[in-house]
Amino acid sequence: MKFFIDTANLADIREAQDMGILDGVTTNPSLMAKEGITGKDNVMRHYKQICEIVQSDVSAEVISVTYDEMIKEGEELADIDENIVVKVPMSGDSIKAIKYFSEKGIRTNCTLIFSAGQALLAAKAGATYVSPFVGRLDDISTDGMALIEQIVTIFTNYGYTTEVLAASVRHPMHVIQCAEIGADIMTAPLSVMKMLLNHPLTDSGLAKFLADHEKANLPVK
Ligand code: E4P
Repeated sequence: MKFFIDTANLADIREAQDMGILDGVTTNPSLMAKEGITGKDNVMRHYKQICEIVQSDVSAEVISVTYDEMIKEGEELADIDENIVVKVPMSGDSIKAIKYFSEKGIRTNCTLIFSAGQALLAAKAGATYVSPFVGRLDDISTDGMALIEQIVTIFTNYGYTTEVLAASVRHPMHVIQCAEIGADIMTAPLSVMKMLLNHPLTDSGLAKFLADHEKANLPVK
């Protein structure tokens, strides 16, 4: 399973990249705003900086909602770098835009997916990725992971090449469950990736190894 980092924070992207486990980056307008990136020129510059750090897929989300505007904005984003994936929120106009982009060889990530029907439409239009939001479904007492499973099954049944990018991943168990189900990618903040490192038996085991080594190597009196 590929690991994407879900952030616009350059330090976090660098740290995940340095760990050697990073396969790409996803951003959204809220994450850009959180970093204080405002105005078209700054946004474009920020995406360029991200692309210079990772040299792999970087999802850049349009803020346009109509077909014509989405096409214009998406083409501008795609021109920033060959690794930019144009991220479009699920809608009728977006489905048309995904079809247009896929015919032009521009890769897309259809975001804000909350049902299997939405994922199926995006796949039929030629989306490179669909992003079902696990955590936000869990937030409203609906099983987010069940949606990942449903979409993986449907895409496998028909051999769709669209990849399932599990988004809104909030904790380590989400990551493990995505991997068990066979999601192609999961995107999560750096904090969630780091939580995967931890186990109390690793900590106590290492402390004992080091203490035993120290004892055995004390100078003989
Ligand atoms: C997906 O690409 C979104 O950026 C993200 O995963 C949303 O996560 P959240 O529900 O924690 O905001």
